[in-house]
Amino acid sequence: MSATTLTITRPDDWHLHLRDGALLRAVLPDSARRFGRAMVMPNLDPPVRTTAEAIAYRERILATSGAAGFTPLMTLYLTEQTTPEELARARASGVVFAVGEAFLAGATTHSAYGVRDFLNCTPALATMEELGLPLLLHAEVTDPAVDIFDREAVFIERQARPIVERFPRLKVVIEHITTREAVAFVAGCGPAVAATITAHHLLLNRNAMFAGGLRPHAYCLPVLKGEGHRQVLLAAATCGDPKFFLGTDSAPHPRRAKESACGCAGIYTAHAAIELYAEVFDAAGALDRLEAFASFHGADFYGLPRNAGTITLVRDAWRVPASLPVGDDAVVPLRAGGMVGWRLADG
Ligand code: NCD
Repeated sequence: MSATTLTITRPDDWHLHLRDGALLRAVLPDSARRFGRAMVMPNLDPPVRTTAEAIAYRERILATSGAAGFTPLMTLYLTEQTTPEELARARASGVVFAVGEAFLAGATTHSAYGVRDFLNCTPALATMEELGLPLLLHAEVTDPAVDIFDREAVFIERQARPIVERFPRLKVVIEHITTREAVAFVAGCGPAVAATITAHHLLLNRNAMFAGGLRPHAYCLPVLKGEGHRQVLLAAATCGDPKFFLGTDSAPHPRRAKESACGCAGIYTAHAAIELYAEVFDAAGALDRLEAFASFHGADFYGLPRNAGTITLVRDAWRVPASLPVGDDAVVPLRAGGMVGWRLADG
């Protein structure tokens, strides 16, 4: 029988949607309990496009109850108007750590300000390469002629590969990868290119969206893929390669916005994030690799110190609440009403 408790260096979440206002207040404690730091995505409405906006957003996060001990790492939303001067201000601020999640216009929640083609942003990308500001890519094309399940693979060829070839020293993270094509691309690039992997893309394949009917809470972008892709992701996450690290892409939306004739994309996982990854690594017989994936590879890629503290996980199943109240609405978390096999020990 393998260990029933696991103590690891406190992990970081390298891709998180924290939102603002009442939603921020509801979800922040879930991330802060588990993670030392999180790379906070800028897709508010309107998005965080300037260093001044990033500083103000960071202050709102830090003023939120439950934030003690948690460090938000801020990001700037890339538009075709982002100037080299703004990027220099961001780099000098000491609080902005990356540009992105960068979207193509229309890709997903609040992406209307996104770019039409990343090669329209070459002055910004050249500046980021010089300054050492990483680019975080939401790797899906928005071309309606491309099948939704192929949009990541097509993005890799049309956008990511040209960016990486043109700016070889630019640090690029392909965020929340979902396909064997993305894994192969990242593995085949030099050390400037890495990827985050979510718990839900490791746990679920696209059948989850149609299990007995249409399941809006299993809908996210990039959309869940087939089982073959999930197996390749699992191998990438658990193989010990430092190019792959934890990013939850926890993306809360009010229930009314999800359970709708046109439900929006996003899965909330922050309530059980590290526990869900522990389940995945446990089932793969790779619990000994969880710490590097969750706590070392991301910090090392960004050139930041690893966290000093630890967390302890216990193999002890608990029931996930049916919902998390937010004002007169609620967020429905992954596994709502179901069991998670690992829990976070208090302390
Ligand atoms: C994200 C959100 O809701 O902000 N949704 C999602 O499905 N992941 C945006 C995004 O990353 O697509």
